[in-house]
Amino acid sequence: SKNLNTKYIGKDIYIFNEVMSTNTIAKFLSMNGVGNGAVVISEKQTKARGRSGKNWESPLGGVWLSIILNPNVNHSKIPLITLATGVAVENTLKRIGVKNAEIKWPNDILIHGKKVCGILTEAITSFNTIESVIIGVGIDANISIENFPEELRENMTTLNDEIGEKVDENLLIKLFLEEFEKISEQFINEEYETILKEWRKNSYTIGKIVEVHEPFSKPYDGYVLGISRDGSLVVEKIDGTLEKVISGECIIKK
Ligand code: BTN
Repeated sequence: SKNLNTKYIGKDIYIFNEVMSTNTIAKFLSMNGVGNGAVVISEKQTKARGRSGKNWESPLGGVWLSIILNPNVNHSKIPLITLATGVAVENTLKRIGVKNAEIKWPNDILIHGKKVCGILTEAITSFNTIESVIIGVGIDANISIENFPEELRENMTTLNDEIGEKVDENLLIKLFLEEFEKISEQFINEEYETILKEWRKNSYTIGKIVEVHEPFSKPYDGYVLGISRDGSLVVEKIDGTLEKVISGECIIKK
């Protein structure tokens, strides 16, 4: 967009009609020297990835994009980038009039408890240092819920269905890139507490009873006390012990 109000995010934008996955394209570009702040956008994706190895449905009408970042940070900061991106989406939705979106840990954006946006952060590392981070964002914008497989419909929604009218996709992208730049600057300046505070304010997960699914371990139930400084979820188990969940999924029970 011509009137994009950013310093470096989206100064280079690669636009496609159709790709397998904008994250894959962004990785490829990044490995070929395309630098900090470049953005890949596609109208649809044929093989998009979600978290935990799941597919991500990406028909026409959604916003599917990936941002290349080259932050000079340690691996342990990646979860915070994801949380920060969730806050950027939240702020973007507020700017188009959606005031009641919430963030489900780690990075699902929900409206009325139903998912409208997902975020997939992937890192390119070399000798254990981060070369770049690819932040993929998928927003179910102008899509009717009927275009999704039946088994997904119960737990998701689209902006179009929530607002009752079409949203301007270009405006949505412009606002998101601006919000993302704002929060990425906080991230680069190590203002992690500011980001976490914003995240907590809009959290859907804190105070809920959840079933925690961590990679390679048995699911367990617990009460969500909050998130800690590294972006992990702090869960009190039934036996009173505290668990820090750095990656995984949680199912909200009540
Ligand atoms: C999730 O499972 O919630 C994460 C979904 C991430 C989807 C986005 S769409 C743009 C980018 N390209 C991909 O292949 N995935 C991400």
